[in-house]
Amino acid sequence: MRAIVYHMPGQFAFTEVPDPEITDDGDVIVRVDMTTICGTDLHILRGDVSGVHDGRILGHEAVGTVEDAGNAVHTMGEGDRVLVSCISACGSCRFCRESKYGQCLGGGGWVLGHTYDGTHAEYVRVPFADTSTYRLPAGVSDEQALMLADIVPTGYEAGVLKAGVRPGDVVAVVGSGPVGLAAVMTARLFSPSHIVAIDIADRRLEAAKEFGADVTVNNSIGDPLRVVQSLTDGLGADVTIEAVGRPETFELAVQLTGPGARIANIGVHGKSAALHLEDQWIRDITISTGLVDTYSTPTLLRLLASGQLDAGRLVTHRFGFADFEKAYDVFGRGADTGALKVVVGR
Ligand SMILES: NC(=O)c1ccc[n+]([C@@H]2O[C@H](COP(=O)([O-])OP(=O)(O)OC[C@H]3O[C@@H](n4cnc5c(N)ncnc54)[C@H](O)[C@@H]3O)[C@@H](O)[C@H]2O)c1
Ligand SMILES: [Zn+2]
Ligand SMILES: [Zn+2]
Repeated sequence: MRAIVYHMPGQFAFTEVPDPEITDDGDVIVRVDMTTICGTDLHILRGDVSGVHDGRILGHEAVGTVEDAGNAVHTMGEGDRVLVSCISACGSCRFCRESKYGQCLGGGGWVLGHTYDGTHAEYVRVPFADTSTYRLPAGVSDEQALMLADIVPTGYEAGVLKAGVRPGDVVAVVGSGPVGLAAVMTARLFSPSHIVAIDIADRRLEAAKEFGADVTVNNSIGDPLRVVQSLTDGLGADVTIEAVGRPETFELAVQLTGPGARIANIGVHGKSAALHLEDQWIRDITISTGLVDTYSTPTLLRLLASGQLDAGRLVTHRFGFADFEKAYDVFGRGADTGALKVVVGR
């Protein structure tokens, strides 16, 4: 089969590799019908993720068809359409029993395209299949479902649910990339009074409006603090979601947040960010961080099936497998190409 194989920072190739095989009774082999590229794959190519070694097949998101199942797999078999989640779960360790699959101690967590071969391939071996894949309801398209492999649960769980968005809240979302947009889209489910999207790229802010932000601020030219204060009698946001991952955007998120309010950090940070406790200790704020667990996937699938959520709108570009490297290029130049989610399918 052909797959995207990582060699070293800046070097990868779409190349011929052996087909995967079942190595554990809990595995399935999935024929990848559609996959997509994540900002984290680009982080890997920049050499930012030390656990990824030469020869690893990248990718942690897919929708596909079960080709073969190990003897211990109970909930699916050959021919079933499944969503392959970015998080695998052993299902029995302490953290899996608490639905914190991202922290799995039994060999799961974020393994696909990281410590196991991933989904940017024609076939993928998925471990712990019963607890790491989801059978797709009829009527949910591959593109819709694929958005639930990573970014939609990330925006929803690590952003909206961690911060506890409630009806009437003023919600500020810093960053309108796919993850920030997923947070905007799923915050809408709770009827906030305003969603303020903040980004330095006008193209991304236009997308935020389409996904449900009623106010947008380009913080390279405008003042988001003034805008948020004008909507909250000078108090600040009830919820702020950080979806960029830079010191200045975390610090902005804290500034925008009102007394008694909540800040959810989703961004992956490579550098330390300042938290001014000398100002904040008295303000009764709650700050959360987190890797996505994907415990919300069954709920999100139901919302897709019933038409309450239109996650497929995040897809801006489509490629065939033969153009996989081109898909990486278009996704990697999102500011120029307008790419949000780029899918690669058969
Ligand atoms: N916690 C998790 O489980 C998890 C999972 C997936 C992704 N992430 C992280 O979430 C973050 C967002 O992911 P994404 O795929 O949407 O990334 P992205 O790079 O596509 O989007 C980031 C957005 O931030 C904007 N931005 C950059 N600098 C800014 C600034 N100074 N002020 C305002 N906006 C600014 C960019 O214009 C862009 O639109 C990343 O850090 C990613 O690694 C976390
Ligand atoms: Zn990802
Ligand atoms: Zn586990």
